[in-house]
Amino acid sequence: MTDLDRAHALLTDRLDTTDEIRAAFAARPRHEYVPDVIWPGAVGAALDRAEDPDGWASSVYADDYVTTQIGDGDAGPVNIPTSSSSAPQLMADMLRAAEIEPGMRVVEIGTGTGWNAAILASLVGPTGSVTSVEIDPDVAAHARDRLTGTGVQVVTGTAPDGPGGFDALIATCAVRRVPLAWVELVGRDARLVIPWAPYPEGGPTPVVALRRTGPTTAVGPLVRDASFMRDRRQHGARQRFPGNGEKATDRTVFPEGSRDLLRNDRLTRLVLTCPELYIAVGGRPWEGGAAPVVAVGEGDDWTHIRPDGSAAGNGTRALTIFTKAYTMWEEAGWPGLDSLTLEVDARSDAHTLRSCLGTWEHPAQVRVPPTRPGNRRGSSR
Ligand SMILES: C[S@@+](CC[C@H](N)C(=O)[O-])C[C@H]1O[C@@H](n2cnc3c(N)ncnc32)[C@H](O)[C@@H]1O
Repeated sequence: MTDLDRAHALLTDRLDTTDEIRAAFAARPRHEYVPDVIWPGAVGAALDRAEDPDGWASSVYADDYVTTQIGDGDAGPVNIPTSSSSAPQLMADMLRAAEIEPGMRVVEIGTGTGWNAAILASLVGPTGSVTSVEIDPDVAAHARDRLTGTGVQVVTGTAPDGPGGFDALIATCAVRRVPLAWVELVGRDARLVIPWAPYPEGGPTPVVALRRTGPTTAVGPLVRDASFMRDRRQHGARQRFPGNGEKATDRTVFPEGSRDLLRNDRLTRLVLTCPELYIAVGGRPWEGGAAPVVAVGEGDDWTHIRPDGSAAGNGTRALTIFTKAYTMWEEAGWPGLDSLTLEVDARSDAHTLRSCLGTWEHPAQVRVPPTRPGNRRGSSR
């Protein structure tokens, strides 16, 4: 047994999942799928396996995502991850939510390295089938090569060939709007496990386990928090951080500091139940390291909440909405993300979240903070 095999066995043992899913992971070592060049930090230099085999192995065998392509394959001014191998526990949780069984016909959107597709092939066994779709031709070619002998069909593009009728769909790129084409790919009552992104760019992308309920409709609970890269067809412009560079005129105290808000999906629950706000997380290095700042914005009204709960901004509208949602969750004892159910009508493009606490429509157009060229950074510091 090589060191890499040992590391793989350790990773597999640590997964919190079913015996079937653990066995499928055990059969498909991650190091056989991750390419030789990776980007260990979200921002930073590429790491080549040939030059740093130990660094490569420790990135591959951390229970975390591994970035395998940046900038759609082009070197750009910033490293925006555009392909990766997802974090193993997240993959295991999504496979479990998809209720994959032997003999199923499964479609995956976002082949990436091919590792998840290989695990899916183990789960469905010789009587089932896996079709995996990848938009990037270079990424698809790599995966096709690594998946040789697994029976997985890799399609370059955004949709499988043929009529559909799949028993389950797993997407490994996040969408703000669930495409009608995805709903139509699966049969009635089949599962669609999808990372759902409330904003065009940035923010959480919690995973939802939908079930197709009609010709254009699907319904299901949120199952866990996640942070996936976006479907390349739904990339929005990078949003301006609310209040960036502006002077704070209003100061107050929020009941919880930004660090605590980020704990245990709390901020995700607030994001999901404040669809009228634009909420972002940033750091303020000049205030002592990478302390997170939670910014809530509504149009040109914004407030920054700091780790100690102090809050400063310009206007009170956004903070009032955010505080109301916070109080609602606090009084309810912070029920889990799975207390929220997403209802999608992909034809009318309605995305409605429901729980016993309320109903929230997530509109197609998000109100993003306006750019204010005359009032730039520097004035508030
Ligand atoms: C997180 S990675 C996939 C991880 C992968 N399942 C694995 O096991 O390595 C997301 C992938 O989705 C691809 N992608 C993005 N938008 C897509 C789309 N509309 N259709 C197909 N693939 C897409 C990206 O190119 C990227 O490779």
